[in-house]
Amino acid sequence: MTSSAAQLTSTDPEFDPSRIIVALDVPTLAEAEALIAHLTPTARHFKIGHHLQFLGGLDLARQLASDGYDVFLDTKLHDIPNTVAGGIAAIADMGVGFVTVHAYPQTMEAAVQAAEGSDLKILAVSVLTSMGNDDLADAGYSLTVDEAIARRAQQARDAGVHGLVCSPADLSLVRQTVGTDLQTVTPGVRPADAEKGDQKRVATPAAAIAASADYLVIGRPIVKADDPLSSFEAILASLNP
Ligand code: C5P
Repeated sequence: MTSSAAQLTSTDPEFDPSRIIVALDVPTLAEAEALIAHLTPTARHFKIGHHLQFLGGLDLARQLASDGYDVFLDTKLHDIPNTVAGGIAAIADMGVGFVTVHAYPQTMEAAVQAAEGSDLKILAVSVLTSMGNDDLADAGYSLTVDEAIARRAQQARDAGVHGLVCSPADLSLVRQTVGTDLQTVTPGVRPADAEKGDQKRVATPAAAIAASADYLVIGRPIVKADDPLSSFEAILASLNP
C-alpha cells in the first residue's frame, strides 16, 4: 500500500494518486471494466462494494490485484466471530489490500486474527457517513455520532485493526482519540461543485487531506461525471501543491 498522510511533507513533488480510492459503484461489471480502462493509468486504487460483489466483482477484484492495482473490498462484514473469521480468511487469499468490517469489538477481533500472516489490512467502519444523530437514535443507539466514533476508534485500536473508515468531519476527533495509531480512510468527500447525494458529513478533497485523512474514497463525483477521468484528474490537481 501507500505512505500515510503523516509521512508526506510539503516537499513531496506530487500527491500519490493511490490515496484516492475510486468507489466502483456502478450496476454492471461491464461498466466497471470500462470505467477502469478509462481511469487507468492515472487512478491506481479501486473499491469494490455491494453493487458489484454479487455481479462478478470478486473476480474483478482478483484480476485488478493481479494486474498490480490496489484493491479495497468493501464487504462491511458483521456476523458471529466464527463466520467473520471464515470470510476474512477466504478474502486474505484474494490479493486485495483493504477489507472492511463494522467496528464492533467481536467482529474486529475475529477479523484481525483471521488476517494474521497475510497482507490483508482490516479497516473498521466507525459510523456510516450517511448517519446523523437522529439516524443513530432511530436505530436504537443512545450515543451521539461523536460519542459512537470516539468509542469505536478506541475499540478499533484495541482490536489491532489497521485503519478506520470515518467522515472528514470525524478526522480530528479520531486523531484526538487514537492519534496516528490508525490510518484513516475517508468517504463523504465532495469537490466544492459536486452534489452531496445521501452523504451528510462531507468535505472537499483538500479539506479532508488537510484534516489528516490518509486515503479518500470517492464514488459519484467521479463515476457519475460526464468525464470521469477529467473529474479524477481535477481532484488530483486540487491536492497537488
Ligand atoms: O458516491 P460516494 O462518493 O458518496 O461514495 C462513497 C463510498 O464510500 C460508497 O461506496 C460507500 O459505500 C462508501 N462508504 C461510505 N461511508 C462509510 C463507509 C463506506 O460512504 N462510512
